[in-house]
Amino acid sequence: MKFVYASRMGHVEGIVKRVGIEDALKIQDGTEKIDGDYVIFTYTDGKGIIPKIVEDFLDANPGVKAVVGSGSMERHADTFNFAAEKIAEKYDVPILAKLDMDGTEYDIKEIKTKLSSLK
Ligand SMILES: Cc1cc2nc3c(=O)[nH]c(=O)nc-3n(C[C@H](O)[C@H](O)[C@H](O)COP(=O)(O)O)c2cc1C
Repeated sequence: MKFVYASRMGHVEGIVKRVGIEDALKIQDGTEKIDGDYVIFTYTDGKGIIPKIVEDFLDANPGVKAVVGSGSMERHADTFNFAAEKIAEKYDVPILAKLDMDGTEYDIKEIKTKLSSLK
């Protein structure tokens, strides 16, 4: 399994690092390419939207198998982690976790457990 992430302010990047993934591909502008299956890690943008660069990447790279989201419960409770929700619906993949900002150690453990059971 490969790992891809987008991070504007560093929370998602920190999550990926704490999960222990060292070779993840960072989406910079959405034109990146990856072969095979991958898990996407993303923040939520706007009023609950998938970041444009992430949607461009997902549309160009068909191997997405699961999503991990990060959002802000304090500032965006009504659209909390909607990017993960929308990706799950549009691409028919499971949500492994929805973290508040950079999440908790419990979240990180949960992600590790769920990743290890993904084929
Ligand atoms: C302009 C803007 C809009 C946002 N909209 C949402 C939102 O609708 N829902 C949500 O859960 N989080 C929202 N967030 C919060 C980010 O998704 C959250 O802080 C995330 O941890 C950022 O990840 P990053 O530090 O890797 O960029 C928004 C943040 C910004 C700056």
